[in-house]
Amino acid sequence: MAVLANNLTPEDGASMTHRLAVSRIQLSEFRCYESLKLSLSAAPVVLTGPNGAGKTNLLEAVSLLAPGGGLRRAKLGEIARNVPSNVPPTETGAPRAWAVSANVETPDGAFQLGSGLDPAALEQGRERRAVRIDGQAQRGQAALGRVCAAVWLTPQMDRLFLDGPSARRRFLDRLVFGLDPDHSSRVAAYEHSLRSRTKLLKEGKGDDKWLASIEDSMVRHGIAVAVARAELLARLSRAGTMAIGPFPAARLALSGDLEDWLETLPAVEVEDKMRAALRDGRGRDATYGGAVVGPQRSDLLVWHDAKGQSADQCSTGEQKALLLSIIMANTRLQTKARGAGPLLLLDEVVAHLDAERRNHLFDEIVALGVQAWMTGTDRALFEGLDGRAQFFRVEDATLSLETTP
Ligand SMILES: Nc1ncnc2c1ncn2[C@@H]1O[C@H](COP(=O)(O)OP(=O)(O)O)[C@@H](O)[C@H]1O
Ligand SMILES: [Mg+2]
Repeated sequence: MAVLANNLTPEDGASMTHRLAVSRIQLSEFRCYESLKLSLSAAPVVLTGPNGAGKTNLLEAVSLLAPGGGLRRAKLGEIARNVPSNVPPTETGAPRAWAVSANVETPDGAFQLGSGLDPAALEQGRERRAVRIDGQAQRGQAALGRVCAAVWLTPQMDRLFLDGPSARRRFLDRLVFGLDPDHSSRVAAYEHSLRSRTKLLKEGKGDDKWLASIEDSMVRHGIAVAVARAELLARLSRAGTMAIGPFPAARLALSGDLEDWLETLPAVEVEDKMRAALRDGRGRDATYGGAVVGPQRSDLLVWHDAKGQSADQCSTGEQKALLLSIIMANTRLQTKARGAGPLLLLDEVVAHLDAERRNHLFDEIVALGVQAWMTGTDRALFEGLDGRAQFFRVEDATLSLETTP
């Protein structure tokens, strides 16, 4: 078991007050980590080491301190550490009860967060996520949003503008979580109602009254989700500073029926219109699943403003830069609005930036005082952070603190 204390004094890194930062994290049976304990300052965290060392796994653990299914959206059982053996995975039995626990400093004080595979449920053969805040069991992971926010950029997101809209909606909702902690419970409540309605329609079981009450809940939560997304976009645009130095400015818009209605009609009329559309669409939704209208049909549209080019037409490097622009604009906004930005998890991002962009990003991360967790294989690319970050070498699921020059 590695116990690492860092040697940064408060003057070296950012102070722990008025920040969101992990000050201690402990993993057990989490992917390649049998056990890991880390103590941290609020300064940015740099993890460098070879492929397969365990860098992304650690970022994934941090991502599970915020609402949602983490940066890999993995099934709970997948996260449990596989012990190398010759037994086929299907015959190794139940997964191990993995856990992540952390002390998190926030502008509202210090909290202890825990997340993991519920050992009690596991004994009954069920996989359930347990979430604890200051030792108290929570009903769902949405509660984490009141304490912790995290935003990430990973290599898988290279396809964000090319693939279907669901990943773009998740990206947008994650930005909203940070500004509006209730958004994740709203999204969860809407999705729960949508699933219940779909099931009833498919089974042909629901009577009109029952369906109408579920649709009422979809209207209430669905419109709140759409309004919160639109509000974030408006605030990002009002902030008017989407571009930072060498990063491109992004222009953002939302598309969808609900968004069109909200722009032109009073809220009560939008509610009536959505309720009527759901009632009239029951036959279609019974056949095709989903729902004719709702926030699950919206899309986030992004353009490279200076080029007037839509993001999917931009080069891979430009797309990454656009995503970083959006993430940093959101971080600035959140720092102002909530007193602290989110934890930023930037997996293999820095290697794709030229020196000018890299140094600009480092400077802004330090200036905003966000705890950014950054990974890469090449330590030299992070030289711009020497003396301003805590550096760990990751090798074979073992971390060692490096002394910075
Ligand atoms: N459930 C698991 N149990 C044990 N090892 C795992 C599990 N999931 C992934 N791994 C392994 O963890 C190692 C480190 O992965 P990762 O953190 O993605 O590496 P990198 O440092 O390149 O980001 C990989 O070799 C991967 O196969
Ligand atoms: Mg990786």
